[in-house]
Amino acid sequence: MAAIRSALYNVMFKAAEKASRGLKRDFGEVENLQVSRKGPADFVSTADHKAEKAIRIELEKARPGYGFLMEESAEVPASDDSGRRWIVDPLDGTSNFLHGLPHFAISIALEERGEVIAGLVYDPIKDDLFFAEKGQGAFHNDRRLRVSARNRLNECLVATGAPFAGKGDRPQFLGEIDAVMANTAGIRRWGAAALDLAYVAAGRFDGFWERGLSPWDYAAGMILVREAGGYISEMNGKSVTLASPSILASNNAIHSDLMKLLRKPLSN
Ligand code: IPD
Ligand code: CA
Ligand code: CA
Repeated sequence: MAAIRSALYNVMFKAAEKASRGLKRDFGEVENLQVSRKGPADFVSTADHKAEKAIRIELEKARPGYGFLMEESAEVPASDDSGRRWIVDPLDGTSNFLHGLPHFAISIALEERGEVIAGLVYDPIKDDLFFAEKGQGAFHNDRRLRVSARNRLNECLVATGAPFAGKGDRPQFLGEIDAVMANTAGIRRWGAAALDLAYVAAGRFDGFWERGLSPWDYAAGMILVREAGGYISEMNGKSVTLASPSILASNNAIHSDLMKLLRKPLSN
């Protein structure tokens, strides 16, 4: 099947492409800054602000009345009656970027009255473009995406995000890790939630869970998973909203088994 080439795709892709040029250049610079005493941290925060600005300029030019929910700026309500807004993370995987690890992405979603209707996740280093539009399927570059078909947990590779810098509930996470470690083929913590979800959509990961994400981390990824035939809910099975405290995404076959596993108490 051919990839989606809708007007919406063109708008979102152009914005991501513009921002990605700066990010790629800045990522090259990070390596030089790595050894300096000040380190690349300030530089990186400038890099994501610049990317966000580039994305906003492009999206505003193409769809002037839509609102914005962006990680680095104040919320902007829609000024037309479309009820639509862009949900943007200009750089998902900041720690990777900062440490010179080539695994980060731009994430752009379009929400209409509470529902995500399109999502794009672009990894500029690997030139991996993931895109989905409601009812139109999900694509990786020109290839149609399907979640994995694995139905035995002990064959599944499951991704997650771990609490860091004193945040989150570490004992609870250790219990979850323990249960998943004992019953699956392995765990991955790659540090970019938008890509984790895109990889579930692509069948690379069989499942993903994380607590404490922000809407811009998962808005685009959630429609990718759904349009690739997967299932996404909160960790307690409730429907995902843009204020969900946790996310559990996987293929349909393992979703309830994974949910049960994650409820197990710490075993030691
Ligand atoms: C982070 C990444 C990471 C996840 C964190 C997010 P950022 O986003 O998605 O994988 O574990 O919870 O905050 O800060 O790199 O945009
Ligand atoms: Ca993020
Ligand atoms: Ca970010």
